[in-house]
Amino acid sequence: MDNITILAIESSCDDTSASVVRDGYVLSNIISSQDIHAAYGGVVPELSSRAHQVNIIPVVDIAIKNSGIEKEEISAVAFTRGPGLMGSLLVGTSFAKGFAIARHIPLIEVNHLHAHILVHFIKDYNREVKVPAFPFLCLLVSGGHTQLIVAKDHYTMDIIGNTIDDAAGEAFDKCGKIMGLPYPAGPVIDKLASEGDKNAFRFTKPSVRGLNFSFSGLKTGFLYFVRDRLKENPDFINKNLPDLCASLQHTIISILIDKLVKASAATGIGEICIAGGVSANSGLRNALIDEGRKRQWNVYIPDLVYTTDNAAMIGIAGYYKYLKSDFASLNITPLANNYF
Ligand code: KG4
Ligand code: ZN
Repeated sequence: MDNITILAIESSCDDTSASVVRDGYVLSNIISSQDIHAAYGGVVPELSSRAHQVNIIPVVDIAIKNSGIEKEEISAVAFTRGPGLMGSLLVGTSFAKGFAIARHIPLIEVNHLHAHILVHFIKDYNREVKVPAFPFLCLLVSGGHTQLIVAKDHYTMDIIGNTIDDAAGEAFDKCGKIMGLPYPAGPVIDKLASEGDKNAFRFTKPSVRGLNFSFSGLKTGFLYFVRDRLKENPDFINKNLPDLCASLQHTIISILIDKLVKASAATGIGEICIAGGVSANSGLRNALIDEGRKRQWNVYIPDLVYTTDNAAMIGIAGYYKYLKSDFASLNITPLANNYF
């Protein structure tokens, strides 16, 4: 069979990314992050879509150049259909349509959440990649989502647990904001936590039935805790920043791991993956390895570059759709709301 070469575009939130994926191997993966949102403490949708519009052509250009292939070798163009910010999705969708028409190649629509999970199937020229066996259980944790998913094959995935309010990434980001940290606060908290004591402070964990999650109570509890301590000592945050970060991170991780353990018991599945931006968290990665060892799970942890939003994940999902000739029509529209 000829090579299958996918040009992939991701523009669902605040990263403009393009990637070339050939037969499951990533030839290039260019990510242009939009720093402008940091000044606002969160993603501003209007600014995000404008920045995508500015970035998309150069990002695609570099992705193709870095991949070492010629445009003529591209078999199909894959793009994120959703969920995400409508204005941002429209930029990627329109670009992909234009590219498909210009090159007379198929268009492939990809669900952003499926794509996060499918990073576990990205191949590597330099090492044998251990891939999860179906059915596997995936904890998908990002800025917009916190879900437990059973993947039955590359295309069929069932959500068995979901957040009823905030996502885990939001808990990191919002609590970070309370501590005066820049957006996104997740990576900053991760770093500071490594110098702190995770048992310094205790925050109440939510009691949500079944396999669902809740993080808004933790955020409010954290806010009140910090507010009360600041009344006693205006320098409380500065004096205790690493301990605050370590204790908060520890609480979030234990909420996630508790539910993962429950989900594994409920489904009888011991093939366990993590995915999404929060799966970059070093504490979560280590906690999963420890828990896996204890419970004899096979655990799968993505390369850091494939945890936060990137187009390589759209490329691998697009590759599997190409294998089934699952192509989109040119009148397809983005879907901003959650769908699976
Ligand atoms: O997957 P992603 O790039 O975008 C969404 O689809 O939401 O995830 C972004 C989220 C942000 O909330 C960010 O703070 C969080 O992932 N994040 C982290 C880390 N790196 C990124 N959270 C905790 N620790 C990290 N190292
Ligand atoms: Zn994402």
